[in-house]
Amino acid sequence: MNLYGILKSAHSGWRYIVLILLVVAIIQALAGWLGKKGYTEGNRKLNVFTLISAHIQLLIGLVLYFLSPMTKGPTSEPLFRYWKMEHIAIMIVAVVLITVGNSKSKKIKDAVAKHKAIAIFFGIALILIIGSIFMMVKNDPSRTLFGIS
Ligand code: HEM
Repeated sequence: MNLYGILKSAHSGWRYIVLILLVVAIIQALAGWLGKKGYTEGNRKLNVFTLISAHIQLLIGLVLYFLSPMTKGPTSEPLFRYWKMEHIAIMIVAVVLITVGNSKSKKIKDAVAKHKAIAIFFGIALILIIGSIFMMVKNDPSRTLFGIS
């Protein structure tokens, strides 16, 4: 397998790490926000791991963007428009939201407000990522919702 194949499989599989961490971090943040709980070291660590996992996915994605044949077709075709513009744009916004949410939460003193910042920013990022994966399946019939390529 060449570098492109390795990175494609890594990027394809790593999404599950990002998604699982994101979902658990959001559940934990919602429980902390709505249940008015303290902000523990465990909470902080999970949020940082989620951030790191998203940044790793971003880096693999950036390299893939230049190696992949999917980003080299005409933008007029929905398939290529998705891979050239929509995937990268939506996913970068999602990673920025995770980054901003984490740093906002770090700066806030109040524990409940810390949880709230994570819940809102990570929550919007999750909606964008899931939305983009649904768009992927719609625009590229060769992809499936839960497949790893
Ligand atoms: C959290 C962020 C991201 C997630 C969850 C994600 C998820 C995915 C998924 C599920 C695929 C399809 C893999 C398959 O068919 O098995 C994919 C492909 C791809 N992603 Fe991402 N992605 C993210 C960020 C990015 C970013 C930021 C870029 C570009 C800078 C990028 C570039 C690509 C490219 C070029 C492909 C197509 C690879 C190919 O089939 O040739 N991704 N991504």
